[in-house]
Amino acid sequence: MGKNFIGLDAAKAEQLANALNDLLSNYQIFYMNVRGYHWNIKGDNFFELHVKFEELYNDLLLKIDEIAERVLTLGHRPAHAYSTYIEKSEVPERKDVSDGKVAMENIVESFAKLIGKQRELLSLAGDADDEGTVALMSDYISQQEKTVWMYRSYLGQ
Ligand SMILES: [Fe+2]
Repeated sequence: MGKNFIGLDAAKAEQLANALNDLLSNYQIFYMNVRGYHWNIKGDNFFELHVKFEELYNDLLLKIDEIAERVLTLGHRPAHAYSTYIEKSEVPERKDVSDGKVAMENIVESFAKLIGKQRELLSLAGDADDEGTVALMSDYISQQEKTVWMYRSYLGQ
């Protein structure tokens, strides 16, 4: 089995890049959903949630760039078309959500999906001795598990 230019098994690196592109697609749809929540939210908690959703989509945008650049680091091309994102994403598009509780519930559900995918990637990356991807996934999982706790607390769960 051949090694690539950073010493990873080339076939495993390709498999990882594909899984990262799949993750990237989920992040892109989730990101645009959260922008929609930021824009459309109504009601008593508007000021609080409008700001909270901005904080969240800014964080997602940073991660989107890190995931895409990890794909490049592995020697592959990041997905960069909306048609690809919508085809690959398991996080569904959420349109016209103005209820804060519904938005928060959708966010918790989307994080559960992302965390599950990141755990699969962590295991795949570990198997390929890809420490860079392991570290990235590990950071995301621990941060987002904490975020889920806080969002669920807000929902009284
Ligand atoms: Fe804004």
